[in-house]
Amino acid sequence: MDLNAWQKNWNELGKDDPLWVVLTNPAKKGGRWQPEEFFQTGIEEINGLLAKLASLKPALPRSRALDFGCGVGRLTQALAGYFTEVHGVDISPSMIGHANRFNRQPEKCTYHVNPENNLALFPANHFDLIYSSITLQHIEPRFAKNYIREFVRVLKPGGAAAFQFLQPSFIRSLVPDAAAMAWRKFKFGNKPFIGMFGMKDREISRLLHESGASTLTAIHSDTEHARWTNRQYFITKP
Ligand SMILES: C[S@@+](CC[C@H](N)C(=O)[O-])C[C@H]1O[C@@H](n2cnc3c(N)ncnc32)[C@H](O)[C@@H]1O
Repeated sequence: MDLNAWQKNWNELGKDDPLWVVLTNPAKKGGRWQPEEFFQTGIEEINGLLAKLASLKPALPRSRALDFGCGVGRLTQALAGYFTEVHGVDISPSMIGHANRFNRQPEKCTYHVNPENNLALFPANHFDLIYSSITLQHIEPRFAKNYIREFVRVLKPGGAAAFQFLQPSFIRSLVPDAAAMAWRKFKFGNKPFIGMFGMKDREISRLLHESGASTLTAIHSDTEHARWTNRQYFITKP
């Protein structure tokens, strides 16, 4: 699928039950997420992120942050509790519509629809912090790679970026992505779907090295799916 088709897909997904599309807790399907409870999960996640960064990157300046793949702004709103200016970027106009509706801090938070495979809407060396959670796992690696290069370009020297990726298990790595996509097309037809993708650690590490980033740490954890494990990268730009 090209990015245009992905944009249509995520736009459809964002129209109906957007909070559940972001956090697919089965008990919350069908509009059962209460916004307050939903946004509280974002506050907890960002508190955990900043606690981790306090040891990896002490005294990180807090002027400008980017939330890539912001959805309805669950994490963007929480980041605005700490940063002076926060930008949320998403491919889906419907998700950004909800993000604007839930925006309790419009003086700090700006949302952008970005249909491009780059972050050309921002200059180089712009952000102190870049965060991306449960987003790159939904983006085909051929596009995700370019977003990572762009993270490094728009990150300020001395800033920090943290992003999460799935790693294919041995069994999943035997299935080419093209075959997995063909299976999804067969299964979902023209209906929108939440695609899952992963990249091997050695590919991401090489990409980061080639882009001029240095890795502070990478944290590995299991997921509930046998096909994937999770990896969160913390990087800086020297
Ligand atoms: C599962 S949601 C996560 C939202 C948010 N990060 C959070 O944790 O609350 C995934 C988001 O990624 C967005 N997305 C998918 N492909 C994208 C792309 N190529 N560029 C930007 N956003 C994308 C979707 O529209 C969706 O809002």
